[in-house]
Amino acid sequence: MRQTVTIPPAEIDRQLALCDQIHTLLEDRPGQKLAFVDTYGCQQNEADSERLRGYLARMGYAFSDTEEGADLVLLNTCAVREHAEQRVFGNVGALSHTKRRHPGQIICVCGCMARQEHVVERLKKSFPYVDLVFGPQLLWQFPELLLKKMTEGKRVFAAGDEIGTVAEGIPTVRQNRLKGWVSIMYGCNNFCTYCIVPYVRGRERSRQPQEILDEVRSLVDAGYKDITLLGQNVNSYGKDLDLGVDFAWLLEQVNAIPGDFLIRFMTSHPKDAGPRLFDAMAACEKVAPVLHLPFQSGSSRVLKAMNRGYTREHYLELIAQLRQRIPNIVLTSDVIVGFPGETQEEFEETLRLIEEVRYDALFTFIFSPRRGTSAAKLPDPMPKEQKSANFQRLLRRQNEISGEKHQAYIGKTYRCLVDGEGEDGLLTARTDGGRLIHLKADPSCIGTWQQAKITGASTWALFGELA
Ligand code: SAM
Ligand code: SF4
Ligand code: F3S
Repeated sequence: MRQTVTIPPAEIDRQLALCDQIHTLLEDRPGQKLAFVDTYGCQQNEADSERLRGYLARMGYAFSDTEEGADLVLLNTCAVREHAEQRVFGNVGALSHTKRRHPGQIICVCGCMARQEHVVERLKKSFPYVDLVFGPQLLWQFPELLLKKMTEGKRVFAAGDEIGTVAEGIPTVRQNRLKGWVSIMYGCNNFCTYCIVPYVRGRERSRQPQEILDEVRSLVDAGYKDITLLGQNVNSYGKDLDLGVDFAWLLEQVNAIPGDFLIRFMTSHPKDAGPRLFDAMAACEKVAPVLHLPFQSGSSRVLKAMNRGYTREHYLELIAQLRQRIPNIVLTSDVIVGFPGETQEEFEETLRLIEEVRYDALFTFIFSPRRGTSAAKLPDPMPKEQKSANFQRLLRRQNEISGEKHQAYIGKTYRCLVDGEGEDGLLTARTDGGRLIHLKADPSCIGTWQQAKITGASTWALFGELA
């Protein structure tokens, strides 16, 4: 059953009218008003920040790249690990100084941290200069909340419901003119036992296919060349829509949009990925030959304790099925070291899994207990030092593998999208598989597809020249 609350278009129109009201208010004050938007966390937050910037631009703000002197500071936060939260609290702390130097500054905290009660309490008590706090489910209401702060003068705290909403028609100001994010769904239903995301982002809800296809079409028309479809688990796209559509179908529809562009997507969940997806990837010529398929642990016992819904064997079977269809597939993944109760032997299973799969790149994390998740309550006997030593071992081994895989590119030629200027007079480019190339070429190539001959490689990147 679809529980999603779709925000009526008239509501978004009302928010846009409130933006115009703020615009008028700001015009009464001298000088161009500046906003600084600081984004933490995943691509979903990047995509949300583009919508927040869309609202801010409509209000008349221009954008600055520092909090110093900005009239409005917006921190779009992430709660996925302790470290991310500490960084945000550190930066909120530092804002007391910028606000002292610029007393009119409005400080807003939004995003995933703002959906947690204990965070909101701490912001209320210990950071009295924070003016507005709102959770990710209320993003669409930002103009209303900001106007309330501006006109009533009181601090505003708004958390929002847990199930979540879908809002269409919010303007966007995108950060990149070649690579575009398109959210296809929001929230997560999986409740992996370590993860805070379902609590802060609400339940899975899919956007209507027509809205997604229209957005992709408008990006392609605007010259975007690299489009990433976003969701916490894109493989469950459509399950809540009662339209009989799924993610493989959506890929085919996006692929059928005329134009010269590449399609990426993230994140896929191994429990919902399978031959139907792999067949669609192989058949759709615009879909990049890359898959990010987080495995989290190489031990079936730990995977069960994580509530991941697959075993080591099933995961390896998926990789085999995928490689059978797309032999040159670039594979990346996420893994957690030191899940509560993970034994040394179970960690070794993770190490053996990365040896077996040989990922091109791996995002490695040490388990971070998140308040409210069930894993945070589990006994966790392994000493920190041992977790840390395991983590370093995994990282070292993966770096060797990534380096070896990169060596194999040398001497070959790959299509790439030149996307910007890098260091030492070189440009940056990405292969279709997403590998970074430091490219010797003229800056006039930026924004174009080129053939790059690979002349060198390191752990992290390739080096090349125009073929
Ligand atoms: N939905 C995606 C998935 O299931 O793969 C990714 C979600 S999360 C934003 C990105 C990664 O953060 C996860 O794949 C996981 O490896 C890591 N992560 C999530 N919670 C964590 C925790 N409590 N401690 C350490 N790493 C965590
Ligand atoms: Fe978190 Fe699991 Fe959902 Fe990914 S699938 S967001 S790891 S609960
Ligand atoms: Fe962080 Fe929220 Fe993304 S917790 S990783 S910003 S969904």
